[in-house]
Amino acid sequence: MANSTYSSTTYLHAAGSATYNFVQDHPYAVGGGAALILGAGALAYKYLRPTPTNPESEAERAMIERQNRTKEVMDKLLITEYHLPINKNEKNQWATDPTKPQPIFDKATTKEIEIVAKMIEKAIQHQSPLPNIILKGPAGVGKTMLGEALCYKTGIGFIRIPSGAMEKHIKTGNHITAFRDVVKVAESYPEPTIIIMDDGEELVAQRPEAQKAEAKNGAAQAHWLVEQERLSQTIAQRRTALVNAILEESGKAYRKIGFCITTNRDEVIDSAFKTRSKIIAVKSPDFEERKQIIITHLPTAFKFDKDMLGFFHKGRLEEMAAKTEGFTGRNIVKSLEDMYACVQLEKGNITQDSVDASILAMKASVERSGPKKGPSVAHSMVQLGQSVFNSLATMVSA
Ligand SMILES: Nc1ncnc2c1ncn2[C@@H]1O[C@H](COP(=O)(O)OP(=O)(O)O)[C@@H](O)[C@H]1O
Ligand SMILES: [Mg+2]
Repeated sequence: MANSTYSSTTYLHAAGSATYNFVQDHPYAVGGGAALILGAGALAYKYLRPTPTNPESEAERAMIERQNRTKEVMDKLLITEYHLPINKNEKNQWATDPTKPQPIFDKATTKEIEIVAKMIEKAIQHQSPLPNIILKGPAGVGKTMLGEALCYKTGIGFIRIPSGAMEKHIKTGNHITAFRDVVKVAESYPEPTIIIMDDGEELVAQRPEAQKAEAKNGAAQAHWLVEQERLSQTIAQRRTALVNAILEESGKAYRKIGFCITTNRDEVIDSAFKTRSKIIAVKSPDFEERKQIIITHLPTAFKFDKDMLGFFHKGRLEEMAAKTEGFTGRNIVKSLEDMYACVQLEKGNITQDSVDASILAMKASVERSGPKKGPSVAHSMVQLGQSVFNSLATMVSA
């Protein structure tokens, strides 16, 4: 396999040069950052194959059945992000589109990512088990994006179980069935698949010690209290059963599926899962990464409007990267979207003040409440009128 298309080096190189050309072609962007740019489709797609209208062969019928089953399970678990290739060529359809935002990480993290990508490629070549992966780090730094990119990049399938999607099933007692259904769907496809459990630390959490419930006093308790305790014990037991099922599945010597947990609380994860996982720590972006994140997201955030994008010359981009210190990737994207909305309200007129106002509004929120949702200048403008925008602009230029 000397000429393997799976080779991560080839891939990284290809992605890098594609982005570079793209940057060259667009005067608003500058190239040559320190950050390596990784991976394919940063955006997730929901891909449905056309249903064959005249099911003739056995194989076709089986395919339709699998497709229906997939849809059924995905709907039940509220899964909207998945990609299940039916052959190796299909991954070509998902190859890097240089106009799509790319995940950007620093050199050290990129190295770690390449190592894991190589492990996945080896697993494909030797038909050995896929690695399990833990992506840890604060909210909004690109863990989910990275999990999907790793799968696109290596050509394997993925199913992303959204954050909290299992809770409903734990409450109704269908948790094990729901989990097994997902595994079965993944296994029904020919290519290896990674099941991404978004913010999934609770699903592989260290299991509680059994006697905890006994530690209470022996005094008579109100009926409702007893009932409540019984219920929470049932839920706890179900959680443990689910953790056990996932641990069992992730530890199988012969398996075609791997697990990827994204989390900002990796300390709660069961040590049995940790020891059999590759852990990648993702952190908030530094100056150079922030610049690259701005560059990779600008075209989509500004709807590929060449005139507006021309505003963002090298100097401006660097100024923005400096002013967005402490921002996560998500914070940056939100500010860019806010900028675009402001510019729309300003009838397409983009100014330094409008750029600064959106960054400032996000900065205030980042400093107040950590990397969560920020207020939007565009929203304030609509709500309170132009005066807010003017005062923000004055604050910025002061
Ligand atoms: N390192 C990054 N590079 C490029 N875009 C990023 C990065 N981090 C975050 N983003 C943007 O923010 C969005 C949210 O990030 P996400 O992957 O959900 O973060 P997390 O899972 O760590 O909370 C992404 O879809 C992407 O648009
Ligand atoms: Mg996430």
